[in-house]
Amino acid sequence: MSALRTSHGDELGRRKFLSGIIGMVAGAVAVVVGLPAIGYLISPGVKRQSQEKRLILGPVAGLTPGIPTGFPFSRKIKDGWVESAQTGVAYAVTHDGQNVKVFSNVCTHLSCRVTWDPDKGGFFCPCHDGLFGVDGEILAGPPPRPLDQFQTKIENGQIQILLEA
Ligand code: FES
Repeated sequence: MSALRTSHGDELGRRKFLSGIIGMVAGAVAVVVGLPAIGYLISPGVKRQSQEKRLILGPVAGLTPGIPTGFPFSRKIKDGWVESAQTGVAYAVTHDGQNVKVFSNVCTHLSCRVTWDPDKGGFFCPCHDGLFGVDGEILAGPPPRPLDQFQTKIENGQIQILLEA
């Protein structure tokens, strides 16, 4: 009688032990297979792709010294799963026909769009009457800093800017 009880008890212990081992192996397999799959699925959402892009605006020779020329641009930006469009106007200005500065048209106060206003002799922001000079410096209004400049390069007489995401 007691031999039977012992044998039954051993059988239950063996089953529990084997179930535990199988459970641990299944768990390990799930981790090994599941983690890369989860990483693959969520990575676009947490990874920001490097989206530097060079944009050719036009020839330096097309600029009139001392007068900014606006070049509209647009491009698509992918941030994780979200795709959006970036549009703007890059204002290029030269004083000597060789060196060029290119300014963003986004006001540094609250991001309204500035436009070159020949009558005011500057980049005017209609939102709060901000005014920037021909070299992006603050002339009037609440903007806290000069207009942002694009990283610029001249290659074969063409003005290029570097757009970053
Ligand atoms: S947003 Fe341009 S002055 Fe306020």
